[in-house]
Amino acid sequence: MIIAVDGPAASGKGTLAGGLAGYYRLPHLDTGLLYRAVGRAVEGYENKPEFEAMAIEAAQSLHADDLDPEFLVAQKIGNLASKVAVIGPVRKALFQYQRDFALRPGGAVLDGRDIGTVICPEADVKLFIVADARARAERRARQFAARGQAVDFETLYTQIEERDARDRANPNGGFYPASDAHLLDTTQLDIEAALRAAVAIVDAVIARK
Ligand code: DC
Repeated sequence: MIIAVDGPAASGKGTLAGGLAGYYRLPHLDTGLLYRAVGRAVEGYENKPEFEAMAIEAAQSLHADDLDPEFLVAQKIGNLASKVAVIGPVRKALFQYQRDFALRPGGAVLDGRDIGTVICPEADVKLFIVADARARAERRARQFAARGQAVDFETLYTQIEERDARDRANPNGGFYPASDAHLLDTTQLDIEAALRAAVAIVDAVIARK
């Protein structure tokens, strides 16, 4: 079984995908980590002419050990990730790794932006997670606070809106729900309630197959 979980920044898709992977005992790939690892590799080159070429090179030479979330969670790495994600050859270079993961024997859960549309259009179940921007900014603020990092809420909120706009405008991405995706709005749901709702959708889809 392949489960695709797409949605905007801080929608809860990563947590949900991890929860679904645990529930159905499937391996999980957070595909945002690939873009974050590329973003991290070009940190400091944002306004330099070689930014794009360096990002492509980093995407082409990415290794599984570059994907340690510990080094990739920072908000600034997320912002850089959304900048490298608009570069067509970067997306192309990251495609095969994601595709191979999706096609592992036994199945997988992948979360990202374009899993149900580009990476794995044949996924058995597609979820598209949404939540309003303020709720997402509040979640991110709580995550940073829990790690002891001070963050300004309004800055986070503005950055989330900027990332949404960049992700949506991405000419090489696919930041829209697949036509056969199930929309799940987590604005009013805590993690447990969101996971219950996601499991209910997956079980219903499987039952129909
Ligand atoms: O989900 P995230 O915040 O870790 O993603 C970071 C950035 O990477 C996001 O702004 C857009 C990009 N991304 C993408 O374009 N396609 C994906 N499948 C996953 C992430």
